[in-house]
Amino acid sequence: MNQDELKKAVAQAALDYIRPHLDQDSIIGVGTGSTANCFIDLLANVRNDFDGAVASSDATAERLKSHGIPVYDLNSAAPLEFYVDGADETNEHLELIKGGGGALTREKIVAAVSKTFICIADESKLVGILGEFPLPVEVVPMARSYVGREIVKLGGDPVYREGFITDNGNIIIDIHNLDISRPIQVEEKLNNIVGIVTNGLFARRPADLLLLGTADGVKSISRQDG
Ligand code: 5RP
Repeated sequence: MNQDELKKAVAQAALDYIRPHLDQDSIIGVGTGSTANCFIDLLANVRNDFDGAVASSDATAERLKSHGIPVYDLNSAAPLEFYVDGADETNEHLELIKGGGGALTREKIVAAVSKTFICIADESKLVGILGEFPLPVEVVPMARSYVGREIVKLGGDPVYREGFITDNGNIIIDIHNLDISRPIQVEEKLNNIVGIVTNGLFARRPADLLLLGTADGVKSISRQDG
């Protein structure tokens, strides 16, 4: 299977997992990116089985609406039973790097209010130690230089994502070469830097279930196994 087929396979596995739990009142948290898009397209086939969705980005909201799926404001929908989203990297403990698409803040919020966070990814995303993928942080524009200097103090190389503005009107700095052998500690250190709205480490709230697309089929890894 190629990478696209793996993405479709994990999206189908996520739908198969949640479908028995859906009813007319169900509102599903939906992530952002190409793998999440596969999930959205499959959701369209069962749109009468649930009420609607909460989107982690404007792009996801648009795609959901294009399929006729109602999109709710999180404030009127939380808590959510399920959140389904991709990742840029995952380790075996289901700690993630997210934000390659720049939607990390809303993704982290939706993950926080969801009982079960299902991460869908192809096997290229599974790594031993997080950090080969540059870690995105969303930053208030006026704090860009300050945050960059603080990141250097932590040992990372900050790279401003040129020409990119988040759905929240902020910028993204991608951190290269950061030691993320202790993800929770790094997440907390970054949380403490004024001007960073959100960092893309999902370690304090990791995924609960990883559906990993491999050449041998979709592997299901739950957090308790890790
Ligand atoms: C967007 C994200 C995505 O989940 C992540 O970038 C993975 O995307 P894809 O499924 O296209 O590889 O965090 O902010």
